Amino acid sequence: MSQPAVKQTERMEKIVSLCKRRGFIFQSSEIYGGINGFWDYGPIGAELKRNVKELWWKSMTRLRDDIVGLDASIIMHPTVWRASGHLDTFADPMVDCLLTKKRFRADQIEPQSGVAYFYTGAKDEASGKEIKETFSVLLAAGKPPESARKVAVQFYAQRGLQNVALLGEQAEKIENTIRYSPESGALLTEPRMFNLMFKSHAGPVESEENAVFLRPETAQAIFVQFKNVLETSRQKVPFGIAQIGKAFRNEINPRNYTFRSREFEQMELEFFIKPDEVVQKQTGSLAALPESGIPGEPQPNWGWEMWHKYWVEQRMSWYESIGLSRDTLEQYWQKKEELAHYARATVDILYKFPFGTQELEGIAARGDYDLSQHQKFSGKTQEFFDQDASAKYVPHVIEPSAGVDRLLLALICNAYDEETVTDEKGNSEVRTVMRFHPRVAPIKVGVFPLLRNKPALVEKALAVRDLLRPHMNVFYDDGGAIGRRYRRQDEVGTPFGVTVDFDTIGENGPELEGTVTLRHRDSMKQERVKIADLPGILLPQIQ
Ligand code: GAP
Repeated sequence: MSQPAVKQTERMEKIVSLCKRRGFIFQSSEIYGGINGFWDYGPIGAELKRNVKELWWKSMTRLRDDIVGLDASIIMHPTVWRASGHLDTFADPMVDCLLTKKRFRADQIEPQSGVAYFYTGAKDEASGKEIKETFSVLLAAGKPPESARKVAVQFYAQRGLQNVALLGEQAEKIENTIRYSPESGALLTEPRMFNLMFKSHAGPVESEENAVFLRPETAQAIFVQFKNVLETSRQKVPFGIAQIGKAFRNEINPRNYTFRSREFEQMELEFFIKPDEVVQKQTGSLAALPESGIPGEPQPNWGWEMWHKYWVEQRMSWYESIGLSRDTLEQYWQKKEELAHYARATVDILYKFPFGTQELEGIAARGDYDLSQHQKFSGKTQEFFDQDASAKYVPHVIEPSAGVDRLLLALICNAYDEETVTDEKGNSEVRTVMRFHPRVAPIKVGVFPLLRNKPALVEKALAVRDLLRPHMNVFYDDGGAIGRRYRRQDEVGTPFGVTVDFDTIGENGPELEGTVTLRHRDSMKQERVKIADLPGILLPQIQ
């Protein structure tokens, strides 16, 4: 059920606060005031991130015969970015507020209506100095002109006037303009293109010949290493290369917490396929896309459309397998006019974040654009000789490209829950619980001796910890009332809690000796199980 915007903002604030309080996410360099667009993952966040990446890697490479991995360098030969088009076209239109100098992305400014006040210039009443630079300010309808004058006076004062007298004021009603700062109302500069790649220099000389770039996507390294991987991995088309790694984009407006960051991680697959004409020639037909439903298992007569649909479905199922149900996701099939010039189709998988439904992953059918570009710029052939099809061609590619950080944020937003519960004394309280799927949960099980000052309980609890530790992330906690300890684990989403009590050590008779209580986070139900059975009960649920 959709909730009002204010509730969603409140929810997001609570999530951000929990993330800081419990060690999921910290602002980068916080003690120095932070740095916009950069984030650090704390002890709990680091575990969550590691689990997500492991699960992606496992599903892409270990559980399949047709995908292999790569771990490439972040800085590559600068010509890579010329070939890929990033040097010329990876840019956003940017505008600056003429008053505050704050920078906005021109295409993200919401249209505004109101009254614009125009000035032809200003004069310093004391010195007589005049500035002829024009300026204007947009006010919401009904606001007094004085507000506009105040902004204009500040603007001319910044240009060196002291007793500012504004010149040539004129007012005009304006509808749906994107030419004014949404914050100060001051006029914005004309849009200028701003390349999003971070630039540096390799070696001690800061010259243009030594300019290098931090990769803005991990994909290009896969294309550039296509031949090496092909020749060393005994793969043949169709096959894929998967990579997880850092990417950097000098985003103009980092926003929505970690959603749009300047440093982030991607999980990208380039899945190389035969061109449709080769499939057609080899198999005599090209499989038709089903009108509804999913394509099923890969077949030799699949062209790009089937492979593309197949990967959309694979990715949706993967998200489901880590706890994002289909009703939290949407698919957006880009319209023809929205597609990049080389893309035949692109589907965005969106998640319903509290701040709006936004992209988690893009799945693009990129034709042979990338390999052909690298063939052209490097002069090295990127063709594959396909013995089965008796054909030589540059493979086409399907690219499912996901953001690790965005997925983490989606999982955190999805997991956050509050419920009113009644404690042992009959008092009601709000329980904050992160309902992570056990596969991604940062800590899998909490182990608690009922009392910390009973050596027999502690000894047994430590033995349980040591039994489980080689298989999963265990948190041992002997501090405070047991109820508090459960709540602490609920807040970081630990799906299971094991308590060692007097029954465990046989104080209440031999029948229950060697058993513990196993508490389930979501239902808060407890069951009595044998210590020896714990690995067998827990492992299938977390793997
Ligand atoms: N190789 C294709 C590519 O990079 P993209 O749509 O620009 O495509 C893929 O990026 C994914 O990377 C996005 O769906 C998103 O999850 C993640 N991503 C992109 N820019 C990001 C940013 N500034 N902050 C966090 N994640 C980002």
